[in-house]
Amino acid sequence: MRRTGPKPYWNTNVARHAGILRAVPEWCGDALDVGCGDGLLARKLTGRAKRVTGLDRSPAMIARARELSAGRPELTFVEGDFLTAALPVEGYDFVCSVSAIHHMDFDPALTRMRELLRPGGTLVVVGLAREASAADWAATIAAAPVVRIVKVLRRAREPEGMPVTGPRMSYGQVRAAARRSLPGVRYRRHVLRRYSLTWTKP
Ligand SMILES: C[S@@+](CC[C@H](N)C(=O)[O-])C[C@H]1O[C@@H](n2cnc3c(N)ncnc32)[C@H](O)[C@@H]1O
Repeated sequence: MRRTGPKPYWNTNVARHAGILRAVPEWCGDALDVGCGDGLLARKLTGRAKRVTGLDRSPAMIARARELSAGRPELTFVEGDFLTAALPVEGYDFVCSVSAIHHMDFDPALTRMRELLRPGGTLVVVGLAREASAADWAATIAAAPVVRIVKVLRRAREPEGMPVTGPRMSYGQVRAAARRSLPGVRYRRHVLRRYSLTWTKP
């Protein structure tokens, strides 16, 4: 059988895509993926939103995203730093970001995501954090065998050239900062070493 697209891949970021897609409002016109990498999630979002913008500061990632999304007029990829790029205030019904916010200053990035969202719109941030308490470590250690087995079975891999860095903030710091910026935010820690923040703008 002839393969028409790139080889599909899975990793612990991709594992969160289904939950993110479920959070997109039914009436979504414009969606934004912050730190979109090669645009995999942005392409999936076109099934839920009329127009999708993916933004990333990596020229290589944006070039790859554009290459993989050729001939899709509902998709736009912007190369730039999220904190300074020209983006419309209250321009999006859905904003998401996967494993990218720990590359930025957390509070300004979260504030900007909130400002870009239209009233009634939804924000989902999936991120990495570090362990700082006994409870954090207990959860990580308990999950470790599951994480390992799932990663082996699913043949987890990152796309080539994806910029990565380790988290500076702990789970507790993320939760506290998110609650300050986004009153009523839903915080969850997931087994596969990610947290998520889900918030609807009043
Ligand atoms: C670990 S990758 C995750 C990519 C993608 N969201 C995924 O789940 O596969 C983090 C991405 O965030 C991007 N990034 C980091 N800081 C950024 C910033 N200030 N503005 C825009 N993109 C940024 C990086 O270039 C990188 O592509």
